[in-house]
Amino acid sequence: PSEPLTDRFGRVHRDLRISLTDRCSLRCTYCMPEQGNEWLSRSSVLTTDEIVTVARAAAAAGITTFRLTGGEPLLRPDVVDVVARLAALRGPDGAGAQVAMTTNGIRLPEVLDALVAAGLKRLNISLDTLDREKFAALTRRDRLDDVLRGVAAAQRSGLRPLKLNAVAMRGVNDGELVDLVEFAVAHDAQLRFIEQMPLDAGHTWDRSAMVTREEILASLERRWTLRPIPGRGGAPAERWRLLEGRGEAARDTGHTVGVIASVTAPFCGACDRLRLTADGQLRSCLFATDETDLVGVLRGTVGGDGSSRTPDGERQAAVDARLRVCLAGKRAGHGIDDPGFLQPARG
Ligand code: GTP
Ligand code: 5AD
Ligand code: SF4
Repeated sequence: PSEPLTDRFGRVHRDLRISLTDRCSLRCTYCMPEQGNEWLSRSSVLTTDEIVTVARAAAAAGITTFRLTGGEPLLRPDVVDVVARLAALRGPDGAGAQVAMTTNGIRLPEVLDALVAAGLKRLNISLDTLDREKFAALTRRDRLDDVLRGVAAAQRSGLRPLKLNAVAMRGVNDGELVDLVEFAVAHDAQLRFIEQMPLDAGHTWDRSAMVTREEILASLERRWTLRPIPGRGGAPAERWRLLEGRGEAARDTGHTVGVIASVTAPFCGACDRLRLTADGQLRSCLFATDETDLVGVLRGTVGGDGSSRTPDGERQAAVDARLRVCLAGKRAGHGIDDPGFLQPARG
């Protein structure tokens, strides 16, 4: 066990987001160009052994949750093995690691049973629209039906809470926010609307065009009474209970909705995340433009100080040191509003 991962602002880090691949089966306009990115070569993507080495050091330093992301994490051929090996890790207190995944849902029907058997605990699925043509235009792939089958598989799996993520976009899905919530309720899932962030390859993001938290809430309030749920902690989403009716007579439906307002109400102050890119770089923020290299310690020779540690132990210690280098550079906030804000390259 090592010291907790505390940054300069006193934020203790408990969550490591691990990108399993940079590839994706969709091409969402807010994320990737039509032709895709310049994909990483097979050899530059971390092996499963390397990911586990990083995760073991992270768990020893107090990381309790591993969230698998991409690109699309289910495109990694050995994703079930990755889940099994991460789920077997223990923290300093002996508690098992929590393994979660954020996916576009497309391969879920084939692999979800195996993922659950391997120890996956939670799933978030991206679903921005229920309209087939809009989906095809937004993701540049006609695969809404596949995603819906994935959501159905997730509902059957019993993994809860099941979350659906929808980036709110003007002229795309801002007319179907209520429908998306109804869909989520019908599938025993929590819908979370996300303010669009400047992460698109084409640099077309425009703050004034963004659908804001306020607008999202106003749209939902035409249909439900929203009662805030206190105690958000480090979670990115603010949440509300959905009540049927108005005033005294309003009845709790038992369902909730969330908003992730990264732009107009950032949660940076409570951020507890670090990220590992598919090619072995640590980032302290979704918007960080600088990276801390882990490939050197994972693939190179480390230590050599004549210490009595086993090479494995040495590598572990070197990863721990790199985690702290990354953390030391973490800023107070993402700085989207700063005049000099630079959009990060995706990795
Ligand atoms: P939960 O543990 O279920 O709350 O997961 P999550 O919301 O952290 O993860 P998910 O992958 O579902 O991400 C939902 C949205 O939050 C996406 O739009 C992410 O890009 C965004 N997000 C995740 N991490 C960060 C972060 O560190 N900063 C900001 N600004 N947004 C983030
Ligand atoms: N703004 C907001 N959310 C985004 N996501 C991807 N790109 C952006 C962006 N530019 C979301 C996806 C998915 C999650 C991993 O991040 O929709 O739900
Ligand atoms: Fe793929 Fe997710 Fe990016 Fe869409 S947002 S292209 S599903 S990685």
